[in-house]
Amino acid sequence: MSALISTVRASLSYRGREGHWLWLLHRVSGLGVLLFLILHVAGMSSAFISIEIHDRLLEMYKTPLFSIGELALAFGLIFHAVNGTRIAILELKPELWQKQQLATRLAIIIVVLLAAPTIIIMALGSINAFFGPAAGH
Ligand code: HEM
Ligand code: HEM
Repeated sequence: MSALISTVRASLSYRGREGHWLWLLHRVSGLGVLLFLILHVAGMSSAFISIEIHDRLLEMYKTPLFSIGELALAFGLIFHAVNGTRIAILELKPELWQKQQLATRLAIIIVVLLAAPTIIIMALGSINAFFGPAAGH
């Protein structure tokens, strides 16, 4: 909770440019993936308690709302992994600190190159499943 409050407070008061948005997105994506992971493992473990509950959860995942959530998860994972790699490399190599702007731009380009096709393929698959000829089967 205190992490959430400090994130909101700092993000409202600090006026950086790309670096600021990357920092905020890194935090939101890290916490979002962590939240997903906890719910995901809890959901999968429900099979031990009741197969019926587990089946109902799996049915719920096949709804448009969850498909949109999956797109956000895919973007969050790709962004967090690429941006996290940028942060780790720069932390380990102080000699690269003059090239921070280049590193930021490179990270954004890599995220777009990886996320765009992933999201398009996933979205087309979901649109086909919900509205295509075999919808509902
Ligand atoms: C929408 C995307 C995902 C789907 C459809 C999915 C599906 C599944 C399924 C079906 C299992 C059970 C496998 C088995 O027991 O044989 C599983 C387990 C697991 N998944 Fe995912 N997964 C997804 C994303 C992720 C992500 C992003 C992470 C990590 C951040 C993750 C971490 C895990 C872990 C740790 C387990 C083992 C949990 C356990 O044994 O209770 N999954 N996943
Ligand atoms: C290739 C995979 C990953 C890389 C390279 C990576 C890298 C990083 C780095 C470098 C940081 C520190 C950022 C900083 O010092 O400002 C960080 C923070 C964090 N990561 Fe990851 N990470 C990865 C995967 C994950 C996964 C799978 C999760 C969740 C299950 C996760 C959750 C978090 C969280 C919650 C934070 C703290 C965010 C904050 O307080 O600002 N990360 N990550």
